[in-house]
Amino acid sequence: MSLSQEIIDEFNKAFKKARVAGETEPTAMVLATSDGHGLVTSRTVLLKALDEDGFVFFTNINSTKGRQLSACPRASATFLWKASGCQVQLTGTVSRVSDEATDAYFATRDRGSQIGAWASAQSAPLDSRETLLRRVREVEEQYAGREVLRPPFWVGFTLNPERVEFWWSREFRLHDRFEYTLEGGHWAKQRLYP
Ligand SMILES: Cc1cc2nc3c(=O)[nH]c(=O)nc-3n(C[C@H](O)[C@H](O)[C@H](O)COP(=O)(O)O)c2cc1C
Repeated sequence: MSLSQEIIDEFNKAFKKARVAGETEPTAMVLATSDGHGLVTSRTVLLKALDEDGFVFFTNINSTKGRQLSACPRASATFLWKASGCQVQLTGTVSRVSDEATDAYFATRDRGSQIGAWASAQSAPLDSRETLLRRVREVEEQYAGREVLRPPFWVGFTLNPERVEFWWSREFRLHDRFEYTLEGGHWAKQRLYP
């Protein structure tokens, strides 16, 4: 089910407020994933796009999160925008971004990040920084004078929420919380106790 325009508008308004308030990295969200057997892990990723299908981020499919999302395509993400006193939480299902759209986004990244994507076996043990830098040099040589293509293991995911919560800081911890939940094919909104 698609996000409602109201939710997208609320998110964009809150995002803008965060930026205006001086939040240095408002696209950062803490993404929680699970192996499907009760092990939950979390880490920060950057939001790269938002549309009615959801919230898009990119990562390595062989990383801990990538493997967990392949096994259990559900996730939760939290934005903390301290400067504007806002938290946004998302919970829902996760699906892969198309290869074409992922290629298109990868092509916009700076060359150093493109090379880094090839060089990093994200989340695998690394014996030394020298090994990583050697791998970077090898990739640089391999792609010398030509375009760096997207590694097949570098992918995009869309978190398509079934629940979105906006939390706004208010005096005396009497904060405002608004929850949007998908119910029978439509989005319901309610206020929650802080
Ligand atoms: C501010 C910030 C932004 C990050 N953005 C991303 C990102 O967009 N994609 C990503 O794969 N890792 C990103 N990372 C690194 C992850 O937090 C994490 O270390 C890495 O993805 C490995 O996570 P995993 O082993 O749980 O899969 C970011 C880290 C920070 C601190």
